[in-house]
Amino acid sequence: MCGIIGYVGEEDSVPIIVEGLKKLEYRGYDSAGLAVFGKNGYQVVKKKGRLSALEAAIKENPIGSHMGIGHTRWATHGEPSDVNSHPHLGSQNKIAIVHNGIIENFKQLKERLESKGIKFTSQTDSEVIAQLAEYYYDGDLIDMVIKVAGRLEGSYALGIMCLDDPDTLIAVKKDNPLIVGSSGHGNFIASDVPAILGHTNKVYYLNDSEIAVLKRGGVEFFTMDKEPLEKTIETITWSLDSAEKGGYPHFMLKEIMEQPKVIRDTIQSAIGNGENAKVLDGIDISKFNKIVITACGSAYNAGAVSKYVFERLCRFPSIEVSLASEFRYMDAVIDGKTLVILISQSGETADTIAAMREAKAKDAVTLAIVNVIGSTIAKESDHTIYTAAGPEIAVATTKAFSTQLVLLYLLAIRFAARLNRLPPEDEKNLLAELVSLPDKVTDILGHVDYIQKYASTCIGCKNIFFIGRNIDYAIALEGSLKLKEISYIHSEAYAGGELKHGPISLVEKGTLVVTISNCKQLYSKIFSNAEQVISRGAKVLFVGNACDAEVSEDISLVSLPDIHELFSPSLSVVALQLFSYYVAANKGLDIDKPRNLAKSVTVE
Ligand code: G6P
Repeated sequence: MCGIIGYVGEEDSVPIIVEGLKKLEYRGYDSAGLAVFGKNGYQVVKKKGRLSALEAAIKENPIGSHMGIGHTRWATHGEPSDVNSHPHLGSQNKIAIVHNGIIENFKQLKERLESKGIKFTSQTDSEVIAQLAEYYYDGDLIDMVIKVAGRLEGSYALGIMCLDDPDTLIAVKKDNPLIVGSSGHGNFIASDVPAILGHTNKVYYLNDSEIAVLKRGGVEFFTMDKEPLEKTIETITWSLDSAEKGGYPHFMLKEIMEQPKVIRDTIQSAIGNGENAKVLDGIDISKFNKIVITACGSAYNAGAVSKYVFERLCRFPSIEVSLASEFRYMDAVIDGKTLVILISQSGETADTIAAMREAKAKDAVTLAIVNVIGSTIAKESDHTIYTAAGPEIAVATTKAFSTQLVLLYLLAIRFAARLNRLPPEDEKNLLAELVSLPDKVTDILGHVDYIQKYASTCIGCKNIFFIGRNIDYAIALEGSLKLKEISYIHSEAYAGGELKHGPISLVEKGTLVVTISNCKQLYSKIFSNAEQVISRGAKVLFVGNACDAEVSEDISLVSLPDIHELFSPSLSVVALQLFSYYVAANKGLDIDKPRNLAKSVTVE
């Protein structure tokens, strides 16, 4: 999704903006641009494609200024092109803006402005903001922002400059993230922390309907009634190093390798006196008669795994898992006795935010599992617990997913104990199993050679199926998603028992069927599924700890350490992440920034 960076201060804004845009690349983009303030007008450079194209254009015609705004664009309205890239300027070249979000009423606004003779140059919804801003501007920038915000429907995070004011950068937001950073040499706006972490770890989190006015020497905040607003500056504890590649060829591999540490940190936070434990102490599960877990993408898959864990441990009457994009429109039967668990790495996914608001409007209690501190979901949910994954840069999630899983396990254990469905001895044993998890993940990560070698033989595959039964099926969903996201190989996940209801017709000579097997009682069933596909020409890769199939020409095996079945997805997923990673690496693909995908899907 689009990314924003802006700077006003003592230094040249151009390298600051370009470096910031590089840190925002992971969000996904198809074009980029920047505009810097100049005495005789803006200097604007916009380029379709990768940031290298933008850098080359700047090198050819160097520009510089103490103030500027930059943007990575992920096209929604209008194709990726130089002209549709941001920043957008009004037709008098007075106001320049960058925008992340979608303006839902842009057509009406555009028609109205065009009827007044204003000429548009792009097909974007965002240009209407620049034109509207110029239309309303009468010498007072805050008045102008208030009027513009009053007319826009949809979502936005905006950076705004005006040619009349060489020392003012304005930021305002609704439903999309924006932070304001403050350093000794100047002030920043950005979509997220890594973009400015090289300069400062002091940030303000902007809320909806707050206006930030940045000058070289300071930052002021105002309400939409133009009243001054006091905000607290926060200190970011993430190190710059944790947002860099640290010697790995891709962020994805670095993040896979970080999993033992972040799983350990996340477990610590939810037991004993950890911060998450304190939040969980405030939730009395016995007050609820229904749990709904809702999320998007991999976070949904974490929810799908957890349903098996909640069912098994809590024996709760009603536990549903719902895609946030569906939940928000399904008019779900929920009320004050429903606990809605939201899972989101970014805390900014548009559908998950909408699901949260729908749940709250129906009086349900919301509990969010979020990675990014200060994000919309983290702030708005009734209760929030944090995964300790640190900054996740690769678009395809790995470590955030793994930390979501462990928080969900811990939640299920805690709820089960509170409901008196888990004897203390069993609780103790489960916690001990969980504490052993990071070492078992380390064990898998110490033996990647086999997976790497096997993956190199799969780059020609047209279709790869992932099957499993019970909780193995739930984690097969994530294995399949990971593979298709980064390797562009078509893949599907099926419950083993469903094979005969359709997918088996697609099995032919050489089809790969990755078969997850950690459920000991179901091993004979999943093995017979494997035999059925092998007899139709497929090759099978078993992944798990419950498999004693003999390795042969048709059968390969990634054997995983023993662990309680309910936690086995945390081991399976590491093997599946490595498999996907090495398939994509062997294909030479852009692993951290797969085509068409965005890290944080902030629009519907
Ligand atoms: C995108 C990302 C996925 C992520 C999903 C949900 O599709 O590429 O990795 O699982 O969004 O994002 P969230 O930030 O809400 O977890």
